[in-house]
Amino acid sequence: MLDFRQEPAKDRVIVALDCSAEEAKHLADVLQGKAKWLKVGMTLYYAEGAPIVAYFKERGFKVFLDLKFHDIPHQVKGAAASATTTGADMLTMHACGGVPMMQAAQEGAESAAKELGGEVPATLGITVLTSMNAEILQSVGVSRPLPEQVKSLASLTKEAGISGVVASPQEASMLRELLGPEAYIVTPGVRPAGADLGDQSRVATPSAAFKAGASHIVVGRPITQAEDPAAAFDAIATELEASSL
Ligand code: C5P
Repeated sequence: MLDFRQEPAKDRVIVALDCSAEEAKHLADVLQGKAKWLKVGMTLYYAEGAPIVAYFKERGFKVFLDLKFHDIPHQVKGAAASATTTGADMLTMHACGGVPMMQAAQEGAESAAKELGGEVPATLGITVLTSMNAEILQSVGVSRPLPEQVKSLASLTKEAGISGVVASPQEASMLRELLGPEAYIVTPGVRPAGADLGDQSRVATPSAAFKAGASHIVVGRPITQAEDPAAAFDAIATELEASSL
């Protein structure tokens, strides 16, 4: 797995393609040579399968395959191996699946990468979904405060030896301290100054998210729904370069 610190921040902006395959392919054409990373989530992947990952890889993108595995370790090991075989460069699992499940994902990713002779993808743990609040957490049996739950699950990702976590920009600095300088901390909820917030409430600008400790940021609608997505990406890259990131 690549040491992300060797790359400029603009190459660590991940464009989330939460749209139809047709639109996603069009966006890839428009962003080719600019964005390095695309994020494929469940909606696109379950409709299109592995060929959609191959499509983006053939065009030179890195792919963040966000399928959020959560199952028994044997199944998750297989899922991580299969995801690695598609060519994905980053994959996700729920940290609440526990250390053995996360270790199994890591093993699956490593063994598939070895077989293919390729890089091991980055493996990320989801701590607490941002759609959860204290009340919902309590209803599923978690009584400690939400930030403590995030911290505790993040510690488990470290214990399991996976690459890092997905987190909100607000949690990034605390997690950077907890997980150390090499950990991947991937933050959605990023909005360039002046952009429409959409349904995101706790947001940070791209440069603020990186300064807080993010290794990568995920930006969807501010780029994908812009009149000119390439120009929207360029504006973010310019903001980052201006901040010497
Ligand atoms: O369009 P927007 O920039 O809000 O997209 C953010 C992306 O990050 C979406 O794909 C969304 O599902 C994902 N995400 C998020 N918040 C999380 C985890 C993932 O917005 N906590």
